[in-house]
Amino acid sequence: MGPVRSELMWQAVVDAVEIAGSGDPLDVLDLGGGTGGDAVRLAQLGHRVTVVDPSPDALASLHRRGVEAGPSGAVRGVQGDASDLLDHVGPASFDLVVCHGVLEHVDDPGVALSTVGTVLRPGGHVSVVVAGRNAAVAARALAGDFVTAQTLLGRTVDTWDVRTMGARRFVPSELEELLTTRGFTPVEANGLRVFADLVPSAIVDTEPGARDALYALERLVRSCPEFSGLSAGLQSIARLDSVEAPPNPGGNSATL
Ligand SMILES: C[S@@+](CC[C@H](N)C(=O)[O-])C[C@H]1O[C@@H](n2cnc3c(N)ncnc32)[C@H](O)[C@@H]1O
Repeated sequence: MGPVRSELMWQAVVDAVEIAGSGDPLDVLDLGGGTGGDAVRLAQLGHRVTVVDPSPDALASLHRRGVEAGPSGAVRGVQGDASDLLDHVGPASFDLVVCHGVLEHVDDPGVALSTVGTVLRPGGHVSVVVAGRNAAVAARALAGDFVTAQTLLGRTVDTWDVRTMGARRFVPSELEELLTTRGFTPVEANGLRVFADLVPSAIVDTEPGARDALYALERLVRSCPEFSGLSAGLQSIARLDSVEAPPNPGGNSATL
């Protein structure tokens, strides 16, 4: 097993695939998929994956990674972002949209999720992972930075301006409301990295068996609300129940 943090984040993708499919290959969009670590692993499992990301550097790394890993035909890299998604991919063309670590950065997370809804097939799923605000409050308080902890505690997603305040952070109820008001039904909520970001790496890396035990503990507590509300990452896997009429698609894409 690799680092616990990365393994937990990959397992979140696997969990979403298991909920979204019945074992057959899926059409997966990895929105903000970055350098394609998850995309390539998904392709190796047999899924057809499209990565849409605004960063040309990330897409260049994805290309290299895809070529080295071999499944070049199964991963498509497209330069774009949540706001112009329908210029690059067709409406109702995916079974699963993975949107991990992205809603923190977009101008309007609600608009981004509405757009995600237009590219999903009816009954398709989205897996959203966002940074947890409670975890940041706790981390600041434990570091003795009580003023910043209070500032973070007083913020909400509605009032968070990413241009002046940096990456947005969420609490579980905000993520659930964003999804339900955009026609999604949350089917599973998980806390990712309840402890993994807090434990000194010296313990995890040197104590025999600590890495496996921490991983197992994280997998146990991820669905306990008492713990998951304090996790560094909040995951919601949600099903699309209603579809808005999509605008016409266009296309600028590069196939790996
Ligand atoms: C923290 S990284 C997450 C990468 C990957 N999804 C993961 O979970 O490891 C955020 C990614 O979102 C991309 N991004 C930033 N703004 C975006 C937007 N408006 N639409 C789509 N992707 C965006 C960045 O280029 C970056 O690759």
